[in-house]
Amino acid sequence: MRFGALHSLRNKLALVFLGILAAAFSVLYLFVVPQLESNLQQRKLADLERLATNSRSTLESLTGRRDVTADELNAGVRAIADAAGARLTLLGVQQSDRAGDPSAEEIRFYVVSDSRDELQVPRNDSVAARAALTRKPVPGRGTFGGEQLVELAQPISYRGRIARVALYSQSLDDATQTVTFVRDRLLAAAGVALLLALVGGYLVAQALSRRVRRLEQGAQEVAAGRFIEPLPVDSQDELGQLTRTFNEMQRQLRRVDIARKEFVATASHELRTPIFSLGGFVELLQDEDLDEETRREFLDTMAEQVERLQKLAVDLLDLSRLDAGSVALECEPVDLGALARTIAGEFRPAVARHDTELELHLPSRIQALCDRERVAQIMRILLDNALRHTPEGTHVTVSAERQNGAAAFTVADEGPGLPDEQQVFDRFYTGDATRGAGLGLAIARELAERMDGSIAAAGGAAGASFTLRLPTQPGGARRTTASSQGRSAS
Ligand SMILES: Nc1ncnc2c1ncn2[C@@H]1O[C@H](COP(=O)(O)OP(=O)(O)O)[C@@H](O)[C@H]1O
Ligand SMILES: [Mg+2]
Repeated sequence: MRFGALHSLRNKLALVFLGILAAAFSVLYLFVVPQLESNLQQRKLADLERLATNSRSTLESLTGRRDVTADELNAGVRAIADAAGARLTLLGVQQSDRAGDPSAEEIRFYVVSDSRDELQVPRNDSVAARAALTRKPVPGRGTFGGEQLVELAQPISYRGRIARVALYSQSLDDATQTVTFVRDRLLAAAGVALLLALVGGYLVAQALSRRVRRLEQGAQEVAAGRFIEPLPVDSQDELGQLTRTFNEMQRQLRRVDIARKEFVATASHELRTPIFSLGGFVELLQDEDLDEETRREFLDTMAEQVERLQKLAVDLLDLSRLDAGSVALECEPVDLGALARTIAGEFRPAVARHDTELELHLPSRIQALCDRERVAQIMRILLDNALRHTPEGTHVTVSAERQNGAAAFTVADEGPGLPDEQQVFDRFYTGDATRGAGLGLAIARELAERMDGSIAAAGGAAGASFTLRLPTQPGGARRTTASSQGRSAS
């Protein structure tokens, strides 16, 4: 594989999966488990507090009686402890000899009674001392016989003096067990989940990266100029969408490629024919015995061929400039009528040769926003066609008008009409064997569209007519007619 281990999509995704899961479990482990532990402890403490509050008066009256026996006291203490499942140790406060309030360290305790008749009793004198001093219940933690305990010391008063402290204690072992159980299960689940994430992430990512690689290879083929079969689109997700776009791109590129090759082939053919013919005539002219009249005839034909070559070269140059987008257009308000009159004037000799006259309908103040030179070029192409592709004496009308907010310029003739109103705009399309190379209308359309305009042909038995539409204001809606549909790829 060309990628470093960490640079492959597959490994990255698997690692990301892994990372997210690890983070999730860490949060559970570091926040939820300790929270659970302290919640359980709080609950136990709350239980002890409730117990202490409920049994306070019982203990006070029990310890307050002068005539109470040790057995009675033990039985009372055991009853309270048993009812709540906690251990209760009753501590007596040793009388201090000194006057005034003693400090916490100075208070001494002795065991008065314990709910379990054992020699060892849990004592937490510091908690008891604080309870005695503050006269309020004080919670605490301790260990006894290897067990963790939660404790509550409650002062018991006798005639306004704290004589006893009840120390309630309860084992935390069951809570610790619960926490350990949860922690172990969590660790096990994390292990399994991480493994699954690693394998699953790896597999998912592998499938993804396989599809990406297929696209990459396809793109490499296309980049190398080889066109491949469309890639299969096997899903509707983003990658499927990308594959579809890739296929479409390839289709377009292929079309452009074919059109380019066709164009080059046709152009070189168009160039070769007159050059060969010229070569032939040159050879013939080298013959010394040629009479003057034949020589003249040959020279005339040669001049015609040269003119055709010149026109072709200019047209090809125009088209390639248009294709490369290097034709700079300067759009300005142009009086279409005035411009058309000038161009029609240029054609006076050709019109005379054609044995006809131009009928002009050119009102003033038909303004279009366009490039004057380029529009003049389009007008010349249309007028040239109307005279070139129609029989002598054919009536030709040139008109300008406003149409739906656009400026329109029309050349209409009464000639044979058009074989196909779309095809005439194709590059190198020539309907009759006259001298043109079939580039005029292709250039005209390209120019019109560059100026946000359009050009459309109509041609029945009554003759052909070509209409150029141009915007009258910036960003003026482009009047799309049939002209922009069904164009050949070029
Ligand atoms: N006014 C017209 N009347 C009849 N046919 C026309 C007319 N204008 C164009 N055509 C047809 O369209 C073809 C393409 O025109 P054009 O692109 O100008 O190329 P060219 O004039 O060099 O042949 C012409 O060969 C001709 O067959
Ligand atoms: Mg032409």
